[in-house]
Amino acid sequence: MSVSRIVFTSLNYVGWGALDNLLPEVERFSPKKILVVTDPALEKIGLVQRVTDPLAQRGYDVQLYTDVVPEPPLETGEKLVSFTREGKFDLIIGVGGGSAMDLAKLAAVLAVHEGKVADYLNLTGTKKVEKKGLPKILIPTTSGTGSEVTNISVLSLDTTKDVVTHDYLLADVAIVDPQLTVSVPPRVTAATGIDALTHAVEAYVSVNASPTSDGLALQAIRLIARSLRKAVENGADKQARIDMSNGSYLAGLAFFNAGVAGVHALAYPLGGQFHIAHGESNAVLLPYVMGYIRKSCTKRMADILNALGGNSSFLSEEEASYKCVEELERIVRDVGIPRTLGGFNIPESALESLTKDAVQQKRLLARSPLPLLEDDIRTIYQSAFRGVVTEPK
Ligand SMILES: [Fe+2]
Repeated sequence: MSVSRIVFTSLNYVGWGALDNLLPEVERFSPKKILVVTDPALEKIGLVQRVTDPLAQRGYDVQLYTDVVPEPPLETGEKLVSFTREGKFDLIIGVGGGSAMDLAKLAAVLAVHEGKVADYLNLTGTKKVEKKGLPKILIPTTSGTGSEVTNISVLSLDTTKDVVTHDYLLADVAIVDPQLTVSVPPRVTAATGIDALTHAVEAYVSVNASPTSDGLALQAIRLIARSLRKAVENGADKQARIDMSNGSYLAGLAFFNAGVAGVHALAYPLGGQFHIAHGESNAVLLPYVMGYIRKSCTKRMADILNALGGNSSFLSEEEASYKCVEELERIVRDVGIPRTLGGFNIPESALESLTKDAVQQKRLLARSPLPLLEDDIRTIYQSAFRGVVTEPK
């Protein structure tokens, strides 16, 4: 018997209207100066004001930081951490997608540490996170990243990505309110939704999967499979938004505890080298990676097929796992995401540099049920260029 290490955030509010819990939670921390980290687009459309206005009306000193970009580079993290140290804030609120929330938790923790963000990177850093940092509340406005319930902050480097990770990066409070996702445009709904689906699928087949993460992952897959297409087609579909919000949240908890693997490892260089959005990078690779590793986890793929709404009852495990890959391909196609790397204007000449960077993602690759070495990774990228799922020889 193996022992699973299971971690959850301390307090989560999840559901339509969950944002009503913000004021009482903020009051609990008695902050003198609050920093709200958010995406500039959310300020423009007035969404972040739903967080800041009630706080300002209650008399809190609230400062807005909007210098957040998608797939944030290391320098963006360095700037925000310096700003947070100088500003003497005592509560950080992250509002937005993965970038805003990742930066908010990074700033909250590194505000009480010395040195640069680069010193704390997983692959090349030399310093360790030692203190909990400032309290932090995370409020997602997309259904996808799961950042509100994970202990990880992802940063873009020159050609790839690295992370700062420690349990101190976990939110003190996460508020997951599907009302905040209603205005998310279809393309972002699709990309973030497939990201969430990928979290659940990769967590379910991970070598670190446990009964706890399995339950979270399968329920996440069910909710996402029944509602992602609807949420993309009609953003005002309340039930679809509620399902996606819950699905993304559960998938976040699942992958935080079981890990993601090959899809994310191969997706990072697409973001790093070609600035493809994280969700779209995962989406285009999902069928090819899962098709490649299928034979190492046929039983689990059959379970995923059922959670996706298929039926494995009259199929062998082998057939069901094959059908599962087809279902994953179908959902990516149905939400309108290109099916090949060429569809993102990535030239085949990038094959070697993509492979070289993906091989570095050892933390992620270690969770794959089929060990993925350099040749395997190259073959998967090739299949994603050609648009044909391939299997190991
Ligand atoms: Fe992801």
